[in-house]
Amino acid sequence: MSKDRLDVQMVKERVDMVSVISRYVSLAKTGTSHKGRCPFHSDDTPSLVVNAQKGLWHCFGCGEGGDLFSFLMKIERISFLEALERLAAEAGVSLRRRDDSAKEPLREIIAEAAAYFADNLTNDPGGEKARKYLLQRGYKQEVWKQFCLGYAFPGWDRLKKKFGKRYKVETLVNLGLLVKREDRCYDRFRDRIIFPIHDLSGRPIAFGGRAFEGEPKYLNSSQNPLFDKGGQLYGLLWARKEISSCRTAILVEGYTDVISASIAGIENVVGSMGTALTQRQADLLARFADEVVIAYDRDAAGGAASLRGMRILRNSGLNVRVAELPIGEDPDSFVSREGAEGMLAVIGESTPFHHFFVRSLELRYDLSTVAGKEGALEESRAFY
Ligand code: CTP
Ligand code: MN
Repeated sequence: MSKDRLDVQMVKERVDMVSVISRYVSLAKTGTSHKGRCPFHSDDTPSLVVNAQKGLWHCFGCGEGGDLFSFLMKIERISFLEALERLAAEAGVSLRRRDDSAKEPLREIIAEAAAYFADNLTNDPGGEKARKYLLQRGYKQEVWKQFCLGYAFPGWDRLKKKFGKRYKVETLVNLGLLVKREDRCYDRFRDRIIFPIHDLSGRPIAFGGRAFEGEPKYLNSSQNPLFDKGGQLYGLLWARKEISSCRTAILVEGYTDVISASIAGIENVVGSMGTALTQRQADLLARFADEVVIAYDRDAAGGAASLRGMRILRNSGLNVRVAELPIGEDPDSFVSREGAEGMLAVIGESTPFHHFFVRSLELRYDLSTVAGKEGALEESRAFY
């Protein structure tokens, strides 16, 4: 039997299926099984039957069914591995997973780097400039804590010196903490505010770094064994609960868009980290949301990106609307000035996908001419 299957079996033996499902559904005992209202369709009779002896559940209303893992995956919208991890933690089973074990030391280094950056920001005299900057943007200390913000010192080798004693330079380069150019090797993040990027298990896997001035404004960790930028959404860790419950996600570009919205109390916001939304990001979002409101920066790039994003999101089966902020604004600037109320009003008035699309065709084609009509039709055909 494979190691995974052994783990699964052990978890199933130790976890009480009825008590786990009872967290979501109120169950009543009937004979050898339990019955309740199915959470996966609107059920006015108790059609859900849980047979703990067999380790199975089934709904006679909607036909859904499976074991405890599939129940948790469905109701929490998590992957099999996440379900396994959660239940294992609950049952006190330590998983003997092979592939991931090689990544564990890497995760620890990233976590340590995140703690180091956070400490620079919060406690180090050298972090004064960063503290001032964040406060002046309206980000108080509790916000630094919530989003695990940090600061990377200026200079070429502060992190290298500190981490190089205990870890191989090669590993640090591989994780994107150091940069290697020919025979030189130095800190990637220098004199930047640090925004850690977390995976859904709550651990940091990469960093975005913002310069105070100068270019590039943002610098991200390179692709590494833990981090694949096109497969991550900034802030999903914190937003997923709210997104799952209201079924709508607000998609923004940047780190500060997510944070400022959250400060205003809007929690269902995730960042695509730039405008190049990928299909994997959209699929990830579709695990939690039914509808996405695109709230990209209101500049020319943002408009074109919204159109591209819509297509990708619709490919993942999501309903799409586009929020139209005032020209020149981004969600961060807008919500900081207008508050949640202003932002929610714009979200509420966001344009349904079809309207946005037709309007963008009208803007780009002269529909009074045959050639214009043909062009617009051609583009629509490709789109739908
Ligand atoms: N971005 C990036 N690399 C860049 C520029 C941008 O990865 N060189 C990503 C970052 O995730 C950034 C987002 O794109 O947060 C949006 O970029 P931009 O609008 O330029 O920055 P803001 O989020 O508005 O940043 P700030 O509010 O700090 O000015
Ligand atoms: Mn922006």
